[in-house]
Amino acid sequence: MSEERPPHDVGPALARAATAEDEGYDRALRPRTLGEFIGQEKLKANLRVFIQAARERKEPLDHCLFYSPPGLGKTTLATILAREMGVNLRTTAGPILERVGDLAAMLTDLSEGDVFFIDEIHRLSHIVSPSRASPWSAPPRGRGS
Ligand SMILES: Nc1ncnc2c1ncn2[C@@H]1O[C@H](COP(=O)(O)OP(=O)(O)OP(=O)(O)O)[C@@H](O)[C@H]1O
Ligand SMILES: [Mg+2]
Repeated sequence: MSEERPPHDVGPALARAATAEDEGYDRALRPRTLGEFIGQEKLKANLRVFIQAARERKEPLDHCLFYSPPGLGKTTLATILAREMGVNLRTTAGPILERVGDLAAMLTDLSEGDVFFIDEIHRLSHIVSPSRASPWSAPPRGRGS
């Protein structure tokens, strides 16, 4: 008889930390361009215009907010945006940013044009949120204010 588990318990196979092998598969399977990203045609059309306009203006992308249930491609889209713009992707997550200084340290470490992806931004502390913290309104490095 199989052991009963509560519904939120995904079991040892899924609960373990990702191994290097898992990350290799992830890199191989994750779409790298909008062309490889399946479905979401309206979103992709909008993003293509957005990317092309930023490239032609020789400016970084403006802010994007992606929301969906888990596994529907938010992180993948962030990687695609960076790749299509030919810049680095820098990643953090809302729960990791506990103090304004944590965010400021990441922002000052960015290079011009980098895509800065905040995963789980809905879990960002109110201490760091845009209404309270000044780093959000600082002009990007290398551009006039
Ligand atoms: N539209 C899509 N086309 C092809 N592969 C996709 C698509 N959406 C998601 N995937 C694949 O599904 C997996 C999960 O996607 P991803 O990590 O981007 O989701 P997510 O929205 O960031 O999930 P989470 O909310 O759990 O962080 C990845 O391997 C990704 O490549
Ligand atoms: Mg994700």
